[in-house]
Amino acid sequence: MCGIIGINSKKPVSASIINSLKKLEYRGYDSAGIATLHAGSINEVKSEGRVDNLEKNSVVQNMVGTIGIGHVRWATHGLPNSINAHPHSSQNVSVVHNGIIENSTLLKKFLVSKGHKFKSQTDTEVIVHLITENLKTENIVNSITKTLKSLHGSFALGIIFKDQPDLIIGARRGSPLAVGYGPNENYLGSDSYALKSMTNKITYLSDGEFCVIKKDHVEFFNEDGIKINKKVLELSSEEEKYDKGDYKHFMAKEIEEQPSTLKNGIKEYVDTSNNDINIFNFPWKTNEISTITLIGCGTAYHSCLMARYWFEELTNLNVNVDIASEFRYRKNRFKKDTLYVFVSQSGETADTYAALSLCKSKEMKTCSVVNVIESSIARDSEFVLPIHCGTEIGVASTKAFLGQILILYLLALKLGFLRKDLKRELFNKKLKDLKELPDLVQQTLLTDNKIQTISKTFNDAKGSMFLGRGFSYPIALEGALKLKELSYIHAEGYPAGEMKHGPLALIEEGMPVVVLAPRDDYYKKTISNMQEVIARGAKVLLITNKSKDEIISENIWETIEVETTNADLLPFLLTVPLQKLAYYSALKKGYDIDKPRNLAKSVTVE
Ligand code: G6P
Repeated sequence: MCGIIGINSKKPVSASIINSLKKLEYRGYDSAGIATLHAGSINEVKSEGRVDNLEKNSVVQNMVGTIGIGHVRWATHGLPNSINAHPHSSQNVSVVHNGIIENSTLLKKFLVSKGHKFKSQTDTEVIVHLITENLKTENIVNSITKTLKSLHGSFALGIIFKDQPDLIIGARRGSPLAVGYGPNENYLGSDSYALKSMTNKITYLSDGEFCVIKKDHVEFFNEDGIKINKKVLELSSEEEKYDKGDYKHFMAKEIEEQPSTLKNGIKEYVDTSNNDINIFNFPWKTNEISTITLIGCGTAYHSCLMARYWFEELTNLNVNVDIASEFRYRKNRFKKDTLYVFVSQSGETADTYAALSLCKSKEMKTCSVVNVIESSIARDSEFVLPIHCGTEIGVASTKAFLGQILILYLLALKLGFLRKDLKRELFNKKLKDLKELPDLVQQTLLTDNKIQTISKTFNDAKGSMFLGRGFSYPIALEGALKLKELSYIHAEGYPAGEMKHGPLALIEEGMPVVVLAPRDDYYKKTISNMQEVIARGAKVLLITNKSKDEIISENIWETIEVETTNADLLPFLLTVPLQKLAYYSALKKGYDIDKPRNLAKSVTVE
C-alpha cells in the first residue's frame, strides 16, 4: 500500500505531484504529503485524510520547488495523522516510503544513541536518520547502499537531499517502483498508472535495485552499488480516460459495466467461428500438468475458490486453492507437474507476489490472471491471462471478480477439452451458453429496486450470514466480504451444510440470512438448510434462478430470482444482487463507498 511519486524538473512540480497523488489514492488514503526542494531548503506539507485536503493547503499552492516527492499513506506503524504522514525529513534528507521496516525498533535505538531525535511513530523515520547518519562519512551512492543493507523488510523509497538540487533517489525491495522519462524531467512512481499522464516511457526497478534520477538522465544500481543497465519500455501512449460519468460512485459504474467486462473477455478469448478458446502460446503440454494450484487474496482468492469447482467439474486435474499469505510461509511440497496460477486484479499484492516469487525460485510453472498487465505479477509470471476489464477504481472489487472467474472458467474449459476430459459436444454447448452470459448479467442488473428496500433490514441487524453449497459457496463468501467491506456490518459466508456444526447457534429472531439456492444439483439440500435457519427465526433472503417449478418452502422473507442458464454459469448471475446489496446498504449509511475505512485497493505490504 501507499503510493509514491517523485519529479525532478526545471519547472515547479507541486501541481503535477498532487495530480499523480490523486491517481495513487487507490493505494491508501488516510493521509498525504509532499516535500519540494527550493533554494537549498526542503519544504514539507502533510495533511490527514485525502489528497484534496493537501491540495487546499495554501502552502502547497504556492510551492515553487522544481524537484519534489509526494506520498499517499495506508498506515502500518502509527496513527493515520499528519505527523505520521510522509514525507519524513531531517535537516538534510526527506523520504517517502511504501512497505514495512521490520527492524525499525532496533535501528531507532541505535540512532537515538547517536543523538537523532524522532518526531513520528513510523518505521519510516529510521530511514531518514540512517541516511543522515551515513552521509556523515559516505558519498550519496555509498550512504544509500549502506542504508538499504541495514533495513529488514520491504520498501519502495523516494528520497531528496537538501544540498542536491538535481537528485531524487528511488529504491525497491518487495514493493513496486517505476521510473518515467520526460522532456527535461524524469519521474519516480509506484506504478505506471501514476506516471502515464506524464510519460509512456518507463523502467521498472527489480528487487534490490536503486536509481539516481537527474533532470536529464537516470542511472541504475544493484544492491552492491554497482551500476547496471535497464531497458526502457514504451507503454501505449493513450491515457485511459476513466471517470464516474453519471454515476454517484465508481463502484456503481463498475457493477453496471459487468456485461461489457464479460463481452470483452469473451471477445478476446472465444473464437466463435471455430468454436474454440484462444489461449495462445500456452508454454506447457497438457500432459505435463496433473495439478493446478490457485492462489490469491481477498476477492481474488474467492475467484480461486470458485474456479476449483469448475476445474474439478470440467477436468480430471487435482486442484488446490490457497490464500497467498498462508501459502508463502507453509512447508509446500513443490511438484514439477503442478501449474501455479496467481490471481490478482492489481498484479501488485505483496503476498501474491511473494507466493509467485517463491514458486519461481523453485522453478515451478507459473501463470497469472491479472487486470493490470504492466504489473509486477504479470511481468514476473511465465504466462499471463489478462482479464481485460479496464481500470477498476472502487476499492471493493466487482467487475474484476467477474472478469477473473470468466478467464478461470475459460482456462478450465480449454484444459478439459485439450485433455479430453470434456467431450467436443459438451464443450461446444458450454461455449454457446457462455455467449448468452453478458445479456443475462445485464438483465440481472435490473433487480435494483427490490434490493434497495431489502438492504435496510441488513443495516438494522447486528450481523448477517450468507449461505451456499457447491458453486454457490464461494459466491456466498464474496457476498459476505462485499457487505463487510462497504457497510461495516458483520457478515459470515458459510457452506450451508456446515451450519449445524456451530454457526447455527448465531441465528436469532430477525437475523438476515442470504441463502443462495439456484436450481442446480445442490438445490434441494440447500433448501433444507434454509428451512433450518428459518425455523430458528432467521429472515431469509433467498436468491435463486427463474424456474417453472415452484419453491417449496414457507416463511421465506424475500426472494430474488436471477435469470436462468447452465449451472456452471449461475455463479456469475448470483454475484450481482450481492454486490448491489452491499452497495445500497453502504449508501443508506452514508459511507464512503469507493474508499471504505481502513482498506486500500492495492495491498503492497504483507
Ligand atoms: C485488497 C482489495 C480487495 C482485493 C485484494 C486482492 O484487499 O481491497 O478488493 O480483492 O486486495 O487484490 P488483488 O489486486 O491482488 O486482486
